[in-house]
Amino acid sequence: MVEAWYSWNLATQEATQSEINASRIAEARRRLGESHSVAVLTGAGISAESGIPTFRGADGLWRKYSPQELATPQAFARDPKLVWEWYDWRRGLIAGAAPNAGHRALVEFESRQSPFTLITQNVDGLHDLAGSKNPARLHGDIWTLRCTACGREEHNRQVPLPDLPPECRCGAMLRPGVVWFGEGLPEPVWRRAVDAARGAETFLLVGTSATVYPAAGLVEVAREAGAHIVIVNLEPTPLDGLADTLFNAKAGEILPRLL
Ligand code: OAD
Repeated sequence: MVEAWYSWNLATQEATQSEINASRIAEARRRLGESHSVAVLTGAGISAESGIPTFRGADGLWRKYSPQELATPQAFARDPKLVWEWYDWRRGLIAGAAPNAGHRALVEFESRQSPFTLITQNVDGLHDLAGSKNPARLHGDIWTLRCTACGREEHNRQVPLPDLPPECRCGAMLRPGVVWFGEGLPEPVWRRAVDAARGAETFLLVGTSATVYPAAGLVEVAREAGAHIVIVNLEPTPLDGLADTLFNAKAGEILPRLL
C-alpha cells in the first residue's frame, strides 16, 4: 500500500516536473526565436552522454586524479611521461566516443541562427565531429600536439601514441595542445568569446560546473550586457542565480527540444 502510494507520488512528481520543463522550454524557445545573436558555452557535461567522464561530480576525473600532478606546466616539467600517459589514455577514451543529441542540436541550431558563437571548454573535438563550424576552443584541443621548443603544431589522432613523450621533427618534446592550470587562454580565442558574450541577446550555458575561470566569467559578461541567460546542467552551479531559465537536466534531453 505504502509502496503503491510512493510510486504514484513519484510518478506525479515526475509528471509535474516534465510539465514545468515543457513550459520553461516553450518560454526559452520563444526568447531564442526573438534573439538576434546567440552564444553558447559548453563544458564536459555535454560530452557525458557520449561516455566521456566529466572532471567534477560523482564520477569526475578530479576525484581519482590530481590536477596538480597531471594538468599543470610544473607536472609536465617534473614527469612528462606520466602526464602523457594520462592524456594518451583520455585520447583513447575520446576516440571511441561519438557526438550525442546535445552536440547535434547545436549544429542544427547553428545552421538557422546567425550570429551564433559556440564557445567550449572541451578539448575532445566532439563539437567539430558533430559538424559545428569553428567553435572557440578556450582550453585547446587534445588532438593537437605542440612542440615545446619550436612551437610547431600538428594534428594527430593516433591512438595510442607509439612513443611517450612524442617527439617533434626538431628533436624536442611535444606536449598536448591544451591549456593547463596556471596557463593563459589563447588570446584571439578568448577575445572572440568575450565579444560573443557581450553581443549575445541569449547566452546558453550547457554542461559545465561553471567553476573554472576565466571561462565561467563569460556568463557574467553576458548578463551585464543584458543577455537572457539559460542554464542546462545536471547539477546546480554557483551561477544559477544569474539564470533567467534553469534546467537541472541532461543536455541530450533538453537541447533537442530547446533548439
Ligand atoms: P565539470 O566536470 O567541472 O562539470 C561538468 C558539469 O556537467 C557538472 O556540473 C555536471 O553536473 C554536469 N553534467 C554531467 N552530465 C551532464 C549531462 N548529461 N547534461 C548536462 N550536464 C551534465 O566540467 P567543466 O565545467 O567543463 O579544464 O570543467 C571546466 C574545466 O575544468 C575543464 O575544461 C578542465 C577542467 O579542469 C582544464 O583542463 C583547464
